[in-house]
Amino acid sequence: MSWLSTSQRAVAQSLVQQQDTPFFCYDLDKLSAHVKPLVDQQVVKLWYAVKANPLSHIIKTLDHAGFNFDVASSGELDQVLSQGVTPARVLNTGPAKSLKQIRHFANQGVRIFVAESHNQVAWLNQVACEFDLQFDVLLRVQLRFDKAQHNPLGGNTLTPFGLGSEQWQALTLSDYTHLDFVGLHIFQWGNMLCSDTLAELWQAMVSPLVQLASELGIALKVLDLGGGLGIPYDAHSTALNWTKLLDTLASIKSATQVDELWMELGRYAVGECGFYLNPVVEQKQNYGAHQLIVAGGVNHLLRPAVTGQAFPAELLRQSDANTADFHIHGPLCTALDKLGTLALPSDSADGDWLVFSQCGAYGYTESMPFFLCHELPAEFVISGGEVTCARAAQPASSYLR
Ligand SMILES: Cc1ncc(COP(=O)(O)O)c(C=O)c1O
Repeated sequence: MSWLSTSQRAVAQSLVQQQDTPFFCYDLDKLSAHVKPLVDQQVVKLWYAVKANPLSHIIKTLDHAGFNFDVASSGELDQVLSQGVTPARVLNTGPAKSLKQIRHFANQGVRIFVAESHNQVAWLNQVACEFDLQFDVLLRVQLRFDKAQHNPLGGNTLTPFGLGSEQWQALTLSDYTHLDFVGLHIFQWGNMLCSDTLAELWQAMVSPLVQLASELGIALKVLDLGGGLGIPYDAHSTALNWTKLLDTLASIKSATQVDELWMELGRYAVGECGFYLNPVVEQKQNYGAHQLIVAGGVNHLLRPAVTGQAFPAELLRQSDANTADFHIHGPLCTALDKLGTLALPSDSADGDWLVFSQCGAYGYTESMPFFLCHELPAEFVISGGEVTCARAAQPASSYLR
């Protein structure tokens, strides 16, 4: 099975004729087709979590498709606004909202915020007061569940994302005259691939959230379930079924009696549209194992080192050789620089290119590009069947001072 379509493979083969360092390519045609059914429904209002991939072309494609935007820093906000998105379609989430950042957001016209602490509530009220505005605010809630699995987003463990119900109960809404508390936000599990587990988690949230809203005196107009929708990273996993998810979301909407259900999608929106081309520097045998040393590693794709989960990879050229398991190591001098152990044709060797798929989300901008002074990767986009360079590769001299 190949993760690339025939046309994507042809683009990759043509680009490697011109490139000699690793690069990303995002298929905006595939992205547009993928997100159409996501936005084409009345159940849930969708925001794009810009952290997944802030490239201007991706933002414009999602803007055109009808997504709103969830930003978590002043940099993300400025990037979204400079693509022509109006601030009324921006939501601010994130655990580190300083007074300075809140003022910047207010100044730029943002009026919807997720508050993650009592201090954030007070600072939001202070800034709204200074600017003589009303902000819409959702309180981010962190719940604990029986039988919960560990998860990179925290699951049941202590995280900075919001507060427990008990902590929120101490809030007196009437103290904050410039804030309209419109709802609650909750998001603790990432990359979920089982729709039944997602449904169980969401359903388990309903009663504690409805109870908290009533104790606080919040008329629950909005419930924001965050992101967390997964994509397959190996051939054995199956993709989520959006229609089935919508049924579950519709039942959550009616159980909570909210006017609006919101989600901020990152991975599920853009993860599948990107691939990463990586030249093989060397093959070697070591302690009975096959190793491939590749030009780009966690300096361009950090996620495997953080989560222990590889991006799927295949050899770009056709090979009839039997497959063997290869340990794939990047160029940095840390054993953490490993992109996974993957089955590849046994004749994979220097001069070959590997193509890693599912790299549209949490790829380059999540990584650590400066360690050991390697090149920054180029980024290409495919749009209307045409390939353009969004950003050329940059040598280390472009960022070293
Ligand atoms: C507040 C918030 N919403 C949404 C997302 C996007 O999550 P995902 O990529 O799982 O859709 C994130 C990711 O960290 C987040 O922090």
